[in-house]
Amino acid sequence: MHMLFLLCMSTYLAIDLTGAYAAGEEHDEFGIILDGGSSGTKLKIYKWTRTDADDSSGLPISELQLVEKLKFTPGISSKAFKLDEIPDYLGPILLTATSIVPAEKHATTPIYFMATAGLRVLPVNATEGLLEAVERNLQDKKCNPFLVAARGAARVISGEEEGVYAWMAANYLRGFFSTDSQAVEPVGVLEMGGGSTQIAFLPSHSLYAHMYPVRLGAVTYRLYAHSYLLYGQNYILQRVNDYLVAIADPAVDDVPNPCMLSGDNTTHTAFGDSVHIYGSANVTKCLEIIDIFLKSADDSWCNPKPCAIGAVYQPPVARTDFYAISAFSYAPRHLQAVDDHGLLDIPLLKENAIAYCEKPLSVVVSEGLPAAYASPYCMMGLYIPALLLDAYGLSPQRNRVFLHSYINHHEIDWTLGAMLQHIEVANEGDCEEFTSGGNCHHAAVSKCRFIALMTILVAVVLGS
Ligand SMILES: *[C@@H]1O[C@H](CO)[C@@H](O)[C@H](O)[C@H]1NC(C)=O
Ligand SMILES: *[C@@H]1O[C@H](CO)[C@@H](O)[C@H](O)[C@H]1NC(C)=O
Ligand SMILES: *[C@@H]1O[C@H](CO)[C@@H](O)[C@H](O)[C@H]1NC(C)=O
Repeated sequence: MHMLFLLCMSTYLAIDLTGAYAAGEEHDEFGIILDGGSSGTKLKIYKWTRTDADDSSGLPISELQLVEKLKFTPGISSKAFKLDEIPDYLGPILLTATSIVPAEKHATTPIYFMATAGLRVLPVNATEGLLEAVERNLQDKKCNPFLVAARGAARVISGEEEGVYAWMAANYLRGFFSTDSQAVEPVGVLEMGGGSTQIAFLPSHSLYAHMYPVRLGAVTYRLYAHSYLLYGQNYILQRVNDYLVAIADPAVDDVPNPCMLSGDNTTHTAFGDSVHIYGSANVTKCLEIIDIFLKSADDSWCNPKPCAIGAVYQPPVARTDFYAISAFSYAPRHLQAVDDHGLLDIPLLKENAIAYCEKPLSVVVSEGLPAAYASPYCMMGLYIPALLLDAYGLSPQRNRVFLHSYINHHEIDWTLGAMLQHIEVANEGDCEEFTSGGNCHHAAVSKCRFIALMTILVAVVLGS
C-alpha cells in the first residue's frame, strides 16, 4: 500500500507545489491537527525533534514548529446533514498531508480533528453525527495512513481548552517551560473570537474553581481559564441589538443604537421580526448597556468570590502581563492605542474610542475605513476597556497587555498548545490508545489519485 500511496504522492510532488519535507531526519517527528472552524478546516502540520529527556526545554523535544498551514473551505459544519460527503471532504486534506509528511513517518504521525465555535452552535445530535462520521473516516485506513487515537480523534474542544492551549502556546514560545530560563515570567492569554472570548492565566492565589491543570515537562501548572460564550466580537454586537429591540416600544419600527455611529443603520432580525436600527451615537448610554452585559452578580449569587462577569468566579490577576490575541487587536490598532512594542494603553483606547464614536459614519468612511467596520470599532473600542478593567479587574498600573499574535515569527495558536499536550501525554503515557495506518485498498487508492489530481488542479488554479 505504501507504494500506491507514494504514487499518489509523487504525482503531487512532481509539480513541486509545496514546501514539502522531502527528507525526514531520523529524530524528526510530525503531528497533524485539522482545525475545524466555521468558515473552513485548517490543515496544520507540526514538526519537532526528539531529544534527550533531560534537555533544557523541559520537554523531550526541541524546535517544535508549524511546517504547513492550509485552509480548505467550506467549514465542515456545511456537511452536517450530508454525512456521506465526509470522505470527499476529508480526502483532499488527508492527501495533502500525506504529501507533506515524509512517507516513512506516516504511521507514527498522530492526527486529530478538533473543532471550535462553528460546531458548538449546531444542534447537539447533528454535531455528534458529524464527529462520528469524521472519526470513522479517520479510523478507516484506506485513505488515512496516520496514527489515530482509539477514542476522541475527532471532537469539539471547549472554549476553556482553546484558552488553555493558547496559554501553553504563548508561554512555550516565550521559553517559560525551559528549565534554564528562570527569568521568564508566565503571561496570561486573552483571546477574542467571533463567538466567544477567553481568559487564561496562572494565578498567584489558590484557585477555588475553574482550575485547569496543565502538565508539561512533568510539571503541573494549575491554570485559571474561562470562556465566555456569546461575548465574542460578533455576538456582543448582535446581543446589544437584541437587547435594544427587546426593550423598545413594540409599536416603533426604528430603534436607536447608541453604540452605532450616527448615519449608520442596519436591519436586525430578532425574535422573528425584522427591525430597522439606526446609530444614535451616545457613548454614555452605550457604556451603560455594555455594563449590563459585564457586571458581576450580587454578593449573594457570587460564590465562590470574587466574580468577574455574572456569577463567574475569577481570582485576582495580581501582577501578570497578558498577551491579547485574535480580534483583540483590530479596534485598538485603528484607534491608535497601541505603541511600537505592541503595548495596549487601555485608558487611551477608551479616550480615543469616545472621540471616535462622535464621528458620523460618512466622516469615518471618507477617512478610508470600510463602512462595515465603522460602528463595530466604536463598540469594541468601548467594550474592550470595560471587559479588561471592569470585568477582569486588570489595572493599567499593574498589568501590561500586549497585542502580540506572534512570538519570534511563531503564531500564538491554540493548535500549537494542543500539539504540546499530545507530546506530553505520549511521552508520559502509553501509546496503546493509538492505532496506526494500515492497508489501502485498490479502489480507494484510485479514488486517492483522482482526488490528488483534483487537488493539484485546484492548487494550480489558486496559485496562479
Ligand atoms: C436531531 O434530532 C431531531 C429531533 O430529535 C431530528 O428531527 C433530527 O433529524 C436529528 N438530526 C440528525 C442530524 O440526526
Ligand atoms: C441606511 O444606510 C444606507 C447606507 O448605508 C443609506 O443609503 C440609507 O439611506 C440609510 N437609511 C436610513 C433610513 O437612514
Ligand atoms: C445620552 O445618554 C444619557 C444616558 O442615558 C442621557 O442622559 C443623555 O441625555 C443622552 N444624550 C443625548 C445627547 O441624547
